[in-house]
Amino acid sequence: MKMIEQLEQLRIATQLAKQLGRVAFVPTMGNLHDGHLTLMREARKYAQTVICSIFVNPMQFGANEDLNKYPRTLDADIAALESVGVDLLYFPSIDTMYPKPLVDQTKVEVPVISDLYCGASRPGHFVGVATVVAKLFNMVQPDVALFGTKDFQQLAVIRRMVTDLAMPIEIIGVPTVRNADGLAMSSRNQYLTSEQRAIAPMIYAELKQLAETLSQDLSQLEQQSADSQRRLAEAGFEPDYLHVLDMETLLPLTDQSQQGVILIAAKLGAARLIDNIEFTCAPK
Ligand code: PAF
Repeated sequence: MKMIEQLEQLRIATQLAKQLGRVAFVPTMGNLHDGHLTLMREARKYAQTVICSIFVNPMQFGANEDLNKYPRTLDADIAALESVGVDLLYFPSIDTMYPKPLVDQTKVEVPVISDLYCGASRPGHFVGVATVVAKLFNMVQPDVALFGTKDFQQLAVIRRMVTDLAMPIEIIGVPTVRNADGLAMSSRNQYLTSEQRAIAPMIYAELKQLAETLSQDLSQLEQQSADSQRRLAEAGFEPDYLHVLDMETLLPLTDQSQQGVILIAAKLGAARLIDNIEFTCAPK
């Protein structure tokens, strides 16, 4: 695996890669787990060259969030990427990504959707995500880029940005990889104590139960959503939100909605966990 820190070298390497065929790209913030490695393996199906980036992006962290303690595990990440046959790792420094102070950086904002749900709880988060992903796309110039559907709203923001800015990049969403007990894999799971880790799978169990109910009877939406959040709170979670939405628009369900998605975010100790589940809406 080639490892590149400098943008000039990356541009030379990607030009050569493009002569061989398609380039697939998986941007990450490192601390790689099996969810990330699934993205890398999947990427290989779309391209001759697979490029991964590792950059912990300060612009997407709020002032009171975990930027400083976000786990940085470059050596283990390199070994993991090599084990799945990634061709090139790009790990730019902060000065390469943001040569000027963040306040002076041009920003990419996808309106409306960036301010809802996780965007409401984490103001500025999706501007930070869209900006860094746009910059990484301009640096790597991939044909295809892959993202996990665990970050459902992030994927929607990126799809919208790519469409609105006419970026010639195919965006692929890859299903969430879960632990055997159902907990979605996430770098933030390691903030959980062993007691919290034992109850964390409840978040997905509640999602599954709610999706099952709503695929049979949508009239129970309000009551069952409230019950799920109450049960989570009783178990020790601090529920942030639970929204039942139209999967296409990411807005509340309408009579026309066919596919729904339930987005959930809840704090458990020091970890903010997010997850989602798709379902087919019960006939009206
Ligand atoms: O999902 C992530 O790890 C990050 O939000 C991303 C897409 C790499 C941008 O920093």
